[in-house]
Amino acid sequence: MEKKIKALIIGATGLVGNELLHRLLDSEVYVGVTALVRRPTGLSHPKLTERIIDFDEMELAADEFEVQDVFCCLGTTIKKAGSKEAFRKVDYDYPLKAAELAKARGASQYIVVSAIGADPETKVFYSRVKGELESALITLQFDSLHLVHPSLLLGKRNEFRTAEALSGYLSPVFSPLLRGRLARFKPIKAEDVAAAMLQIAVDGEKGTNIYEWPELDEAARRRA
Ligand SMILES: NC(=O)c1ccc[n+]([C@@H]2O[C@H](COP(=O)([O-])OP(=O)(O)OC[C@H]3O[C@@H](n4cnc5c(N)ncnc54)[C@H](OP(=O)(O)O)[C@@H]3O)[C@@H](O)[C@H]2O)c1
Repeated sequence: MEKKIKALIIGATGLVGNELLHRLLDSEVYVGVTALVRRPTGLSHPKLTERIIDFDEMELAADEFEVQDVFCCLGTTIKKAGSKEAFRKVDYDYPLKAAELAKARGASQYIVVSAIGADPETKVFYSRVKGELESALITLQFDSLHLVHPSLLLGKRNEFRTAEALSGYLSPVFSPLLRGRLARFKPIKAEDVAAAMLQIAVDGEKGTNIYEWPELDEAARRRA
């Protein structure tokens, strides 16, 4: 029989996060799901505790971090954030702070959407921030740290993002051509990333694990 445990999610109003929130609430694995958000999700569910917070003062919600599994789907773009510093706050400071708060309260798993190419040594700022976050998370020594590395995300957003729009349009043509070692660059639906994240939380290996398109696709299909 599966354990009944609690989850916390940050980024639940986003493309991946909102898909994931629905799945966490539907899943029998979790008895309770806490979403820390800066604006309402619009969802109402008996298992859902929604708390609107200022992410600069996350420690004021420290009591919410007494959970086993933490899911991080936070993220922004430099354009949207307004500066590299503001981007780094959302894509590095907040996910790391959440991990520290959860680890200090005994959380065992941290599952985070990072990105393909995450590398603390790269000159590409976006990928470097993602890589630096991963390096910092590794030092926290969760029982299980799951680093999700999608390439371009596909899904319906309220805002227009040129690369995603182009990718979504061209994906049926070029995606099948990305085979073998190139398969990791296949665009992936946000709903598949979310499904994979839940499945990974349920049956992922202990230790630090990285999931690219082939593993995400497989995990998304494996779901019960
Ligand atoms: N887009 C891609 O093609 C792509 C590719 C690879 C990896 N990724 C990564 O995948 C992750 C998820 O992407 P996504 O497209 O699902 O993200 P998204 O739709 O842009 O959602 C981002 C989430 O972060 C929250 N957030 C942003 N700025 C915040 C702030 N200052 N304070 C508090 N919360 C804030 C948003 O809240 P609000 O709803 O309130 O704004 C939202 O819940 C990101 O880390 C992204 O870098 C994306």
